[in-house]
Amino acid sequence: MVQIIVTDRARTERVLEAEAGLSLMEAIRDNGIDELLALCGGCCSCATCHVYIEDSGALPALSDDENDLLDSSDHRTERSRLSCQVPLTSAMVGLKVVIAPED
Ligand code: FES
Repeated sequence: MVQIIVTDRARTERVLEAEAGLSLMEAIRDNGIDELLALCGGCCSCATCHVYIEDSGALPALSDDENDLLDSSDHRTERSRLSCQVPLTSAMVGLKVVIAPED
């Protein structure tokens, strides 16, 4: 199990546990946080799974599709990622994730 720290839009911080191999979006939803709409189901076509992540070096590179979709958000920052495009790995223990404002 991978333990990550998620801050929701009400600024409540929670420690979640999820299996490696799940996407970060799935891990957040499976732990009962319903703020990520994830309308496309993880196909990298909706951007409703937008989060901010403090990159510890464990994150996969941004794909062109993810980059383009993030450009459609008014809330993009240098820490923006689409959580469906980030598979959890054991190297991500303690990763800090903040759910981005809704566009
Ligand atoms: S769930 Fe649609 S882009 Fe991530």
